[in-house]
Amino acid sequence: MGVNENVPMMSIPGMGRIPIKYVALLTLIVQNCGVVLLMRYSRTLDGDKAVPATIVVCQEFLKLCLSLCLVYYEAGSVNGLQDTIRRELFGKPVEALKLSVPTILYTIQNNCILIGLSNLQAAVFHVLYQSKLIVAAMLSVTMLGRTLQPMQWAAVLMLTLGVALVQVATSSKKAADTEMIQYPSFGLAAVITAALCSGFAGVYFEKILKGSSTSVWVRNIQLATGGTLIGLLIVIMQDGAEGVFVWQQGFFFGYNWTVWGVILSNAGGGLLIAIVIKYADNILKGFACSFAIVCSSLLSVFLFNFEVSFLFFLGTAVVCMSVYLYTPRPQPSSSSPTSSSPIGSDGKDQQEVAAPLLPTSKA
Ligand code: C5P
Repeated sequence: MGVNENVPMMSIPGMGRIPIKYVALLTLIVQNCGVVLLMRYSRTLDGDKAVPATIVVCQEFLKLCLSLCLVYYEAGSVNGLQDTIRRELFGKPVEALKLSVPTILYTIQNNCILIGLSNLQAAVFHVLYQSKLIVAAMLSVTMLGRTLQPMQWAAVLMLTLGVALVQVATSSKKAADTEMIQYPSFGLAAVITAALCSGFAGVYFEKILKGSSTSVWVRNIQLATGGTLIGLLIVIMQDGAEGVFVWQQGFFFGYNWTVWGVILSNAGGGLLIAIVIKYADNILKGFACSFAIVCSSLLSVFLFNFEVSFLFFLGTAVVCMSVYLYTPRPQPSSSSPTSSSPIGSDGKDQQEVAAPLLPTSKA
């Protein structure tokens, strides 16, 4: 495979040892695809709708619980868990403060997405929101000192265009969207803010994860604790805004099995994103999530009788092409293959060159 010795690997029964990076990216594609399909399915069901802000709280709280379990597993005992929490969470207030940056940015991002979606046409929102991929690539270069080959830049631009086309093809027919649009310039500002927050929070989180040896699960405890608290604050502040009063009708008003499915999947997805950012990087995460959008749209053709248009095929082809192009070709002058770049577990040997998406087996 041409994979460097110090690339973190994991054993998969029947498949041998595979770099964690690929396992995580593939799992993220499956998870993202599943959650999109679940959300689409939930829209076809009648009944009360759950308040989105309560869903975010549940996701963050579940992520916190799962992260605690994983730290317990790493530490090996309850005493070990307590020691780790005391040392890492309470003993390093500056580190905790650093984590508040992505926590706040992710919160702003998630809220701007909701504002953007209700003040812009869905297609316009999705096209503009894809600029987060370019923001992440630019910040990876400026903040992490990563290098992208010209072909990889072209691939990132193609990916942005391809996903935008797929999104337009699958969301432009909704007449209801236009009826609700009240403040397009507000929506525009919101979607641009969401894209900037996404790019910056992701790359900043990557810098934190790779810049120290602190466990990725400890980082997630910090992130999820902040996320739960801010989420609760938003539930209180927005109470009644969606026509539902959580205090009277209950926190779990409108919950059904699909809502719990989305919560479970998104909580797991949040942890997966952290793994992908740690062992791969933000740009590859963007490719995985974009590819999942294409896969879920393709599956929707069979599951929900989605109509496929020429635009959809074009977008899908452009995305697939970009995935191929992003895999760096061997450079005549460079002696070290790019596959050597991923990230030692101590985070010290941080990559300079963008990591490949597909295994560079022939390099
Ligand atoms: O659009 P983008 O890929 O930037 O979205 C990232 C999402 O992942 C955010 O909504 C954020 O809340 C979530 N996340 C998470 N746990 C992490 C990192 C990100 O839930 N450790």
